Amino acid sequence: MSKILVIHGPNLDLLGNREKDIYGTDTMDDINSEIKNMADADGVECEFFQSSHEGDIVDKIGKTQADGILINPAAYTHTSVAIRDALSAKDIPSVEVHLSNIYAREEFRHKSVIAPVATGQISGFGKNSYIFGYKALMGCISSKK
Ligand code: DQA
Repeated sequence: MSKILVIHGPNLDLLGNREKDIYGTDTMDDINSEIKNMADADGVECEFFQSSHEGDIVDKIGKTQADGILINPAAYTHTSVAIRDALSAKDIPSVEVHLSNIYAREEFRHKSVIAPVATGQISGFGKNSYIFGYKALMGCISSKK
């Protein structure tokens, strides 16, 4: 059975209340349950993790036994060499997702330090970024097996 790890970075636990015009009204739990439904249908085990602490995310990536990682690094996208290095150290596929189109927003969001080490990035489709990201990740995992 394949296993995936879904990571939500800082402030994503506030989804549903946070800047709804940018991030929509779905909560993190709503997003997780949609991913869980797809994973159940595919017979995939799914672990969900949210943290606003960089080191906790680094530790989680380092310790995971998952076959792939779906990650929204949130604000750490633009700053965290530590999360980038943790992903880079893992020889498993990873997909970076963003609810908003980071390239259509403030200039400081245009750069992702994570993207060069992720298998790919999906940005700007709201909750569907996670859905598309899940499908992309599953494609990578099944072509690897
Ligand atoms: C985000 C985009 C980031 O720039 C921002 O810091 C977030 C959310 C997104 O999903 O659109 O917290 O990753």
